[in-house]
Amino acid sequence: MSTAKKEYKRITVKSLVDMKQHGEKISMLTAYDYSMAKIVDAAKVDVILVGDSASNVMAGHETTLPITLDQMIYHASSVIRAVHRALVVVDLPFGSYQSDPKEALRSAIRIMKESGAHAVKLEGGAEIKESVKRILAAGIPVMGHLGLTPQSIYKFGTYTVRAKEEEEAEQLMEDAKLLEKLGCFGLVLEKIPAELTKKVSESLTIPTIGIGGGKYADGQVLVVHDLLGMTHEFNPRFLRRYMNLYEEMGKAISNYVDDVKQLDFPNDDEQY
Ligand code: KIV
Repeated sequence: MSTAKKEYKRITVKSLVDMKQHGEKISMLTAYDYSMAKIVDAAKVDVILVGDSASNVMAGHETTLPITLDQMIYHASSVIRAVHRALVVVDLPFGSYQSDPKEALRSAIRIMKESGAHAVKLEGGAEIKESVKRILAAGIPVMGHLGLTPQSIYKFGTYTVRAKEEEEAEQLMEDAKLLEKLGCFGLVLEKIPAELTKKVSESLTIPTIGIGGGKYADGQVLVVHDLLGMTHEFNPRFLRRYMNLYEEMGKAISNYVDDVKQLDFPNDDEQY
């Protein structure tokens, strides 16, 4: 049985604000390819994020920095072909929006035009104000991302919780208000104290989506490979693994190897 308060045939940026107003939590998950996006969409996840975490999860890079705009467009267009209900948000990758607002708009337009995505996400606050304004002025919905912003990992030095100190927390609150004022439709809050997420969420009319931001966010996002336990090398406190697919898939694949080696696969019924 569905636990949603209201049935949405198709999720739009307006549906998300509506959910916040009605106290319905928003579910968001990453997907980077057609097959996974089909499963995620059929399970009625509200927002699918084609995250630049594809750089880690799909390509095996240590950080999100190496992924290119062309690669993000490839992932996004594969996802879009699978999705009927969810709102699809795509990360603008590192280097595609930081240098100047015109380049930011060009990158956002390429994502929208070449993949068919519904919105873009950018990391940062006041420092990307002009880029956010320009993209919004072109009619492209923008989601913000504050707290731990992985594209700045070399500035932070570690993946530990952000905004524990008052000064950084105040800056984050200011940035959140600014992004709302500019017209962003939502905000990812990554790895910040739960009480700060509460304060930010209560101060905004647009929804906040937490990852390691605690229970007071208006919605939650996880990397789908982490939720399914396909990844297993790290165990952050905020991560709930719903399966151990790393083990399950490993067992299935090694059974296949044994069957081939022992001449059990294919059998008489599995051939023409
Ligand atoms: O790229 C990503 O997966 C993200 C989430 C962690 C929010 O930005």
